[in-house]
Amino acid sequence: MKIGILTSGGDCPGLNAVIRGAVLKGIAIHGHEFVGFLDGWRGVVGGDVIGIPRTLVRGIAKQGGTILGTSRTNPFENGGGPDVVRDHMERLVDNDLEATDYSVGFDTAVQIATEAIDRLRTTAESHHRCMIAEVMGRHVGWIALHAGMAAGAHVILIPEQKVSIDQITQWVEEAHTRGRAPLVVVAEGFVPEHMETPHSERGLDTFGRPRLGGIADQLAPELEARTGIETRATILGHIQRGGVPSALDRVLATRLGMAAIDSVVEGLWGTMVALNGTGIEHVGFQDALGQLKVVPQKRYDEAAVLFG
Ligand code: F6P
Repeated sequence: MKIGILTSGGDCPGLNAVIRGAVLKGIAIHGHEFVGFLDGWRGVVGGDVIGIPRTLVRGIAKQGGTILGTSRTNPFENGGGPDVVRDHMERLVDNDLEATDYSVGFDTAVQIATEAIDRLRTTAESHHRCMIAEVMGRHVGWIALHAGMAAGAHVILIPEQKVSIDQITQWVEEAHTRGRAPLVVVAEGFVPEHMETPHSERGLDTFGRPRLGGIADQLAPELEARTGIETRATILGHIQRGGVPSALDRVLATRLGMAAIDSVVEGLWGTMVALNGTGIEHVGFQDALGQLKVVPQKRYDEAAVLFG
């Protein structure tokens, strides 16, 4: 069988390990042949494809990014559509997720954010400042929650939880009163109580969604004015998506890549591979894509015990 692989949307460390896992198992166990569509759906719509022999995936599990490239191309626009996609498939080759406990790249992003926040803490303490670290998280605050807990943040702000500026000010002042340099971790999609939508100042992406980023810059002067504590903001941005994947992500990615080949061999179309506990499962798209995996209230309440 000839199998096509593409990587689409925002990249993350671990994608190359997925490709490698799929190709190695597919070739070694089933004798499949692999091709890669370049730059995600752009490659499908444009028929831009390369062969993926075993030699191409040699040693790439530890390599960040994606050897196939990615894009935010909508396959139903830009000259695409179902007929174009089907034509190219027939010519060339015979797919914040609810269903998986962890997504590829999450562990690495948390590791990067935690290390950055640890660094902010030392300079904050030297200057007796308040630091606000902004991490990714458009609809869900998993990176902020985990990196914030790992780094011992005094405040964690996530998209799922509306919090008033009064409350944030109180937590910052409590930490300061104890002689600490207050550390606030905020997800890009956080919406303070007085706002209706996330802060956005960078226009729209190709899917018409507001590009996020900058809420930390909004909060910093506000908190400084209210508390009198010198406050700085740092936006980590795409640093969280670059570099080498952690060991945990490499293992997860390799297992998911291999399981994706099982899906093809067993004809499990319309499914995605997912981590459930320590096992890999095949989950129907309707269960996988129906809703976002938000931070449950009890996980936020658990973290909030240590705020202030
Ligand atoms: O959707 C994942 C994500 O990393 C968001 O957290 C972020 O807002 C967005 O992608 C950035 O998109 P781009 O890489 O297109 O700038």
